[in-house]
Amino acid sequence: MLKGLLFDLDGVLTNSAKFHLTAWNNLAKELGITLNDAQLDSLRGISRMDSLELILKYGGQEDKYTEAEKEKFAAEKNSKFVEQVETMTPKDILPGIPELLADAKKQNLKMVIASASKNAPKILTRLGIMDEFDGIVDPATLHHGKPDPEIYEKAQEIAGLKADEVISFEDAKAGVESIKAAGQFAVGIGDKELLKEADYIVPTTADLKLSEIEKVFNEK
Ligand code: G6P
Ligand code: MG
Repeated sequence: MLKGLLFDLDGVLTNSAKFHLTAWNNLAKELGITLNDAQLDSLRGISRMDSLELILKYGGQEDKYTEAEKEKFAAEKNSKFVEQVETMTPKDILPGIPELLADAKKQNLKMVIASASKNAPKILTRLGIMDEFDGIVDPATLHHGKPDPEIYEKAQEIAGLKADEVISFEDAKAGVESIKAAGQFAVGIGDKELLKEADYIVPTTADLKLSEIEKVFNEK
C-alpha cells in the first residue's frame, strides 16, 4: 500500500535545475570547456564536486587543478546559483506540484526530500513549502551520490517506510537509477528515452496526477 512520496527537488518541485546547468555551463566556458547538450544533461542530480569533476573530465582537464582550485571553482559556481535562488518565490513551484502535494496530504502520505543539493532547505524556504515535508535527507551524511541508491534508501528510512510503500519522483537519469537500485517505484519527469528505467514517465510536472500514478503503482 502506498504510504509515502519521496521527492528530488531541482527539476521536480521547481525549475532550479536550469540555474544549476547555466551556472555549470558558464564555469565550463571560463575553463575553456565546451559541453554538448548530453554532457550538460548528465550533470542533473549529480553532487557539486562530482559535477565539477565530470566537467573537467569532459574537457580532458581532470589532472589540471589542485583540490584548492577545484574548491574555489565550485564555490564560484555555487554563489552564482545562490544568486538565482534568492530571486525565487512560491510562483516558481512547477505546475501540477501544488495539487500533487495537496492530494498526498489528503491521503496522509509521508513526504521526504531526496536531493543532493546542500541548498535544498534554502530553496524550499524560498518556495514557501518547507513545512510540507516530514524530512530532508542531509546530503552531507551520504557516502555515494546518485545513481547509488543511498539517498533514496535514507529518504525511505526518514519516512519510516518500506521500499514497496513509496513512490519516488525524479527528472534525472542518475536519479531514476538511484530509485530503481533502492527497489522503489520511480516516476520520471522528462524525456521518455532518457528516463526509460522509470515505472511511470510524464513529459512535465503538469502531467502528474497522483490517482493515475497510484493505479499503476498498485498493479506492480
Ligand atoms: C541536485 C542538482 C544538481 C546539483 C546537486 C548539488 O542534485 O540536481 O544539479 O549539482 O543537487 O547541489 P548544490 O546546491 O549542493 O550545489
Ligand atoms: Mg533533479
